[in-house]
Amino acid sequence: MTPAHESGASPIDPRSCPRGSAAAVVGLQWGDEGKGKFVDLLAPGFAAVVRYNGGANAGHTIVADGRTFALHLIPSGILRPGTRAVIANGVVVDPAGLVAELEGLESKGVDVSGLVVSSRAHVVMPYHRALDERLESALDGTPRGTTTAIGTTKRGIGPTYAEKAIRMAAVRVGDLVRGGDVLRDRVQLALGLHDSFAAASGVDGLLADLEPLGARLRPVVADTTYLLHDLLSSGERVLFEGGNATLLDIDHGTFPYVTSSNCSALGIPAGSGVPGTRLASVVGVMKVYTTRVGLGPMPTEIDGDLAHEIRERGGEYGTTTGRPRRIGWLDLVALRYSAMINGATMLAVTMLDVLAGLDEVRVCTAYELPDGTRTDRFLPDAVDLAGATPVYETLPGFEPDIGGCRSMDELPAAARRLLGRIAEHARVPVGFVGVGPDREQTIAAG
Ligand code: GDP
Ligand code: IMO
Ligand code: MG
Repeated sequence: MTPAHESGASPIDPRSCPRGSAAAVVGLQWGDEGKGKFVDLLAPGFAAVVRYNGGANAGHTIVADGRTFALHLIPSGILRPGTRAVIANGVVVDPAGLVAELEGLESKGVDVSGLVVSSRAHVVMPYHRALDERLESALDGTPRGTTTAIGTTKRGIGPTYAEKAIRMAAVRVGDLVRGGDVLRDRVQLALGLHDSFAAASGVDGLLADLEPLGARLRPVVADTTYLLHDLLSSGERVLFEGGNATLLDIDHGTFPYVTSSNCSALGIPAGSGVPGTRLASVVGVMKVYTTRVGLGPMPTEIDGDLAHEIRERGGEYGTTTGRPRRIGWLDLVALRYSAMINGATMLAVTMLDVLAGLDEVRVCTAYELPDGTRTDRFLPDAVDLAGATPVYETLPGFEPDIGGCRSMDELPAAARRLLGRIAEHARVPVGFVGVGPDREQTIAAG
């Protein structure tokens, strides 16, 4: 079998994503499943890679040709020359962060000419970041039920989406690049709502910071909805890249310990203007264990030496904030729920190499509830989920070094058995397996 990275074209079978249709790569857990790696791997064959939700709270690390790239706002397709990297309307854009990320890529010799940003994406302002910080520190250390801090990335995500919904004082990328009175009026109104920030900066100070950013981004701003429809109508394929992940989805995740957008595949139509009927293939990316950054329940969480070992072997420190990620066994209850919500057509299972060498591996197949009953249904509410005790199935471990395996046949039988159990429980076939961070360390399970 040809290793996935050597086929030249995208390893997604063209029959599962016909010309004129779209595919998606989404996270099935609490983030950091390895979405960036799979977007990068699948990007050839797609005319555009599109972010539709979230903002610079995402952190996607890609290892390609011995070089490491950390992307936050810019779609991972930027690393594939000739592919458009589209930031669609559902994303919240921090202009200073975007320009810094662009310049960082340029300094590494990456061709960034494929970037296109929707004029209808909302702008993360400095006062949104300040409010995110203030809310987090006001609630930190005062747990009352679920009224605690969330452990956000402090990138201003929640306040920006909140002001998008409030509408009156929101600033969109189109306003930023248009500048002039419209921008001034909106900033003035917004600063009336953020008085502590206004006192420090003032309208003129803030506008002076925003104007050069607007000028820098003006050439890349467009109507991305028409752009994507034009591509699809001419028979091109489009790949959506989820930021954050399903269990952090504002409507379907573990509220209130979630982010502020629809990060599952359900967010694609609203966040891009491309209807769900175009979506032919959904690749659900998942680790063979669980991680979580920030607060909120995680039934299979473990600590002590084993958690430490997995964290170190997997490099489980946040790409965006550097925080150590919480570690747990694989939660198949959560996984089946996420696969269902996303309509996943294929699983990409990552980090198999990280578990290699353990004597045994556990997977959670049900929850025991406080009244002593059991359920195999996920509880997407933080209070309910906090009361769930995992019921485990124990599987045999497998040999320590699988990083060089390039086909399913080369994997130890116990590793194949674990993959089989995952597919059976999720009711979705395994399409890809990751045995290391590099593009090359991927097995296509065709
Ligand atoms: P994302 O946010 O879902 O794109 O994931 P992150 O990039 O935040 O975190 C995943 C990390 O795991 C990155 O450092 C990847 O380079 C790395 N990674 C991806 N797949 C594998 C894998 O199969 N094995 C190992 N060891 N690392 C992987
Ligand atoms: P990627 O795309 C892991 C988490 C934060 C916090 C909560 C809300 O790299 O998988 P926010 O700043 O969005 O208001 O924080 O969501 N979070 C992520 N955790 N990976 C991510 O993105 C995340 N994006 C948000 O840690 O608990
Ligand atoms: Mg990440």
